[in-house]
Amino acid sequence: MWREWAFLEPSFDLHSLSHRALTGLLIPQWIREGRTDLDNCIESSAYGETPRALLEEIFQALELQKNDTFLDLGAGAGQVLAQASLRASTCYGIERNPYLVEAGRQVLEETAVPPENLLLADFLSSTWPQEATKAFSTTARFGSETIEELSRLLETTEKLKRLVTLGRPLPPPERWQLRLEKTVRVTWNPGEASLAETFQLWERVNEKDAERRPG
Ligand SMILES: C[S@@+](CC[C@H](N)C(=O)[O-])C[C@H]1O[C@@H](n2cnc3c(N)ncnc32)[C@H](O)[C@@H]1O
Repeated sequence: MWREWAFLEPSFDLHSLSHRALTGLLIPQWIREGRTDLDNCIESSAYGETPRALLEEIFQALELQKNDTFLDLGAGAGQVLAQASLRASTCYGIERNPYLVEAGRQVLEETAVPPENLLLADFLSSTWPQEATKAFSTTARFGSETIEELSRLLETTEKLKRLVTLGRPLPPPERWQLRLEKTVRVTWNPGEASLAETFQLWERVNEKDAERRPG
């Protein structure tokens, strides 16, 4: 499947494939295939992952616990799932890039997350695991339409209570409250300069509390 380079459309930019997938899987594969344009292959393939230290902060903001079902929207090569599984008993990810899903499922074989929980799909047009209670999304490279649709889709979830976004801020979803917003500096790839990104914590408004409020 690694030969299908035509699949890498322009939207699969520098954030399309993980550093780990590159060094562990893709570069060895390209060498085996005798490719000589490695610079070109890498340039159109590198992508970033949320740094580990920040993940801890994200899980704390989500109050991620054993009885939660965690969902990463735009899960890349599954590293967030692997870390989340140390806290939540069930973890899912949705990722539309088949290269990342292939690489991620191999990574997940060594974790508590069943590799098939990294779902190959577009989260804008697929059904999300409805048991999800806490979610995360790296919105840094999402276009405006994706961000708006993501905000709208939050309305269609049943059990989702909290969501953290990292990157571009989300337009306020109906019946969700912004609990925390701050700017954090993120180094997406080792050795790269850090970028200022928006960290948001969203919480679903408890309908009963809203009814009780006057006015
Ligand atoms: C910057 S990576 C983040 C990976 C991982 N969540 C992390 O934080 O380490 C963002 C990922 O979102 C994926 N993505 C973007 N739009 C998507 C969509 N509509 N459906 C599924 N995945 C999407 C991209 O392919 C990319 O792998």
